[in-house]
Amino acid sequence: MKVLVTGGAGFIGSHIVDQLLTAGHQVVIIDNMSSGKETNLHPEASFYRIDMENPRIHDVFHKEKPDAVIHQAAQTVVQTSVREPMHDAHMNILGTINLLEAARIYGVKKFIYASSAAVYGDPQYVPIDEIHPVGPLSGYGISKYTPEQYLRVYEHMYGLRYSILRYANVYGIRQDPHGEGGVISIFIDKAIEKSPFTIFGDGEQTRDYIYVEDVAKANIAALQAGDSEVFNIGTGVHTTLNQLVEKLQEISGHTFKVNYENERLGDIKHSYFTIDKAKSALNWSPTINLDEGLLKTYRFYLDLYSTKIL
Ligand SMILES: NC(=O)c1ccc[n+]([C@@H]2O[C@H](COP(=O)([O-])OP(=O)(O)OC[C@H]3O[C@@H](n4cnc5c(N)ncnc54)[C@H](O)[C@@H]3O)[C@@H](O)[C@H]2O)c1
Repeated sequence: MKVLVTGGAGFIGSHIVDQLLTAGHQVVIIDNMSSGKETNLHPEASFYRIDMENPRIHDVFHKEKPDAVIHQAAQTVVQTSVREPMHDAHMNILGTINLLEAARIYGVKKFIYASSAAVYGDPQYVPIDEIHPVGPLSGYGISKYTPEQYLRVYEHMYGLRYSILRYANVYGIRQDPHGEGGVISIFIDKAIEKSPFTIFGDGEQTRDYIYVEDVAKANIAALQAGDSEVFNIGTGVHTTLNQLVEKLQEISGHTFKVNYENERLGDIKHSYFTIDKAKSALNWSPTINLDEGLLKTYRFYLDLYSTKIL
């Protein structure tokens, strides 16, 4: 199958590209390199450096005729959506519509969309299931949710099959500490530099941390299953920030100073998923637990750090 991956030079997208190529698919990447990295670009994938909002995207679809689209490209920083709501909406909403138009015109058979736990806002109950009401609390939450509605409409009007994958907090190798869900990469940076951690609030807030390769696997599974459905993609396990710090102390063998500061306005106390729907409909389950994933990520960055300072 030929699969077009938007954001294939980014954190999650590049892992999806790796797994697609390993599975024998042909891969086309679209990325404007706003946060993507040259080093993440797989040499066996065709690459187009182009913004997803650019009308010339149609030329790429015309030339490549992809069977499926896995759409990861986005403005991913919540604070940017607060400071620059127009930019955020342009990228995430209009950019996705541009892709959907190209997908419709050039006969794409399946469109997989990376959505986010941000669409739920402050949860009314946990664990969050897919029928939990949507209530975004930021421009980013809105701009990730709106394309979900377009997907439903494109299926209804044009028969374009889709799956929506709402990710929990994704972490792992190649993550930029500034994007969404970057707390683990920030903590790992600090752990390696042996500088203090800052926690806003008492550190008892919980999240569902999922290793990036498991998220990539869910996308591959959705190529063949889960049409017209929305899925929570997490682990179903919740972890506090204090537990994360403890785990990193164990892994690194150092005790860190933690500065507790006042909770920030709008911070969400508890957010974690139930993933039963994805398990049964996508025949997928996460395989890497937090201890394993943290160790992999820590070792990777420690090696990188050692080569930099040598
Ligand atoms: N990382 C998380 O914890 C998390 C959680 C929930 C949802 N998501 C979603 O997953 C997807 C991937 O996130 P990520 O963490 O890998 O982010 P990332 O910033 O590493 O990757 C995004 C990629 O998209 C590219 N891009 C951005 N805007 C573009 C545009 N207008 N045109 C073309 N390319 C563009 C960037 O250059 C980058 O390579 C995003 O849609 C994000 O909203 C991420």
